[in-house]
Amino acid sequence: MIYIFKVTLHMATKDKKGNDMQNAETFGIAAPQDTAAEFDLVHVDMWQEWCAAASDEMRNWIDAQNFSGRAGSALVFPGPDGRMQKAVGLYGKHAVWDGAGLAKSLPRGIWAATQTTGATPGDTDIEQLALGWALSQYSFNRYQPEKDNNDRPNLLKLPDTVNTSRLLGLIEGTWLCRNLINTPANHMTPQQLEEAATTLASRFDASIRITSGNTLATDYPAIHTVGRAAEVPPRLIDISWGKTGPNITLVGKGITFDTGGLDLKPSKAMEMMKKDMGGAATVLGLALAIMTAKLPVRLRVLVAAAENAVSDRAMRPLDVIDTRAGLKVEVGNTDAEGRLVLADALTLAGESENDFIIDFATLTGAARVALGTELPALFCNHDDTAAALIEASNEAADPLWRLPLFDDYERHLDNGFAAMSSTGSSGYGGAITAALFLRRFAGRQANWAHIDVMAWNLASRPGRPKGGEAMGLRAVYRYIEKLANA
Ligand code: BES
Ligand code: ZN
Ligand code: ZN
Repeated sequence: MIYIFKVTLHMATKDKKGNDMQNAETFGIAAPQDTAAEFDLVHVDMWQEWCAAASDEMRNWIDAQNFSGRAGSALVFPGPDGRMQKAVGLYGKHAVWDGAGLAKSLPRGIWAATQTTGATPGDTDIEQLALGWALSQYSFNRYQPEKDNNDRPNLLKLPDTVNTSRLLGLIEGTWLCRNLINTPANHMTPQQLEEAATTLASRFDASIRITSGNTLATDYPAIHTVGRAAEVPPRLIDISWGKTGPNITLVGKGITFDTGGLDLKPSKAMEMMKKDMGGAATVLGLALAIMTAKLPVRLRVLVAAAENAVSDRAMRPLDVIDTRAGLKVEVGNTDAEGRLVLADALTLAGESENDFIIDFATLTGAARVALGTELPALFCNHDDTAAALIEASNEAADPLWRLPLFDDYERHLDNGFAAMSSTGSSGYGGAITAALFLRRFAGRQANWAHIDVMAWNLASRPGRPKGGEAMGLRAVYRYIEKLANA
């Protein structure tokens, strides 16, 4: 079954630049007409200078509060009547996360940052601060009772010079991604992932095409094979948006729950596997950011949505299955399901012209052993693209680390008994083997990159609450933004 539809959006609340400000306050961003209390925003390198220019009373207060002037911290100075007279906030190298710190350490209100002694923080600093400020306001409240108005978040008012649509897109994209991941698997089935994609597409007047049922089984046999054991059937989601600019295709692993299949995961390893659609959530969030900012690109988003379940219909270890590319694959392990669904989606991606294809996937535990949970692994066909992605990741304070597509390990895939193995049998270098498997479908020529992500914060840090996380989203946004404006 294939169906295609297009819905047009209702009008929303706009600011004078035409940005949708409806959700801004939920994110901790004040409306342009709000009156704000000002605080001095000071770079840590200027802190001593700022103190030297302050009054004796203020310096005494700084000492009395034992205030150290760390990046991300803030201090409020009372007047003789005990009311706030002045406030100061500090930031340093990681402006994004310092913004998160400021949102927590400034008392609740409506705030605007003002120029201080020395260097004026540039727009990008303010944007980064505002981004972290907003990301720290996130909580997963789908199952919480509606908050009352007293629970208003701490608000930051932006200077007119800030690129509001870029900022709001990145914020909302991250929130969307986190919400999709945090939603438990019984409420985030392939059907519900499709619904989220449809809502997104209609909001931006994008077209969306869903393939499921018998058509999926014939045209995307690997996605079908992975998802056929589950109660809610698998599907391929295909969104298109934009009429000019480079062709960008985002591909996401959308395994809504990964039991491991017949190669069942032990319970501790299975527990977190609602996040196995983290790649899909990241590309949907990234698409939201791109469409909100109206980046001049022709965007395509492919999500392979399936649940890796256990039943009498489940694929078996060493089954030989078909793929869209026509290659036969021997299932080395039913828990290596992500690469199978991505194989078909990458094949589809390669059937049209592309300037850049990137997939996001919670693909291997091995990538996490290599780099830990906070540093996604980047694999890329082309050195210059890889370098540009790493540069963008540094600029966006959203780190990526490149791992090699080491040709010699290709032989592990060729060592299947009856056909190309999906896993190889070495047991070592699993993140590389998985990436090499994907490359067989993406092709060696394509400007293709693959990001193996955790998509989950194991513990909370400023601006990064425990739970689902949009890792790599801002880095790749930055890369695409440059590609679009080149
Ligand atoms: N979704 C998992 C990978 C994963 C596990 C990501 C934990 C992040 C945290 C994936 O489907 C998987 O189970 N991969 C196997 C592959 C192996 C059987 C070849 C793995 O990495 O162990
Ligand atoms: Zn798995
Ligand atoms: Zn998986």
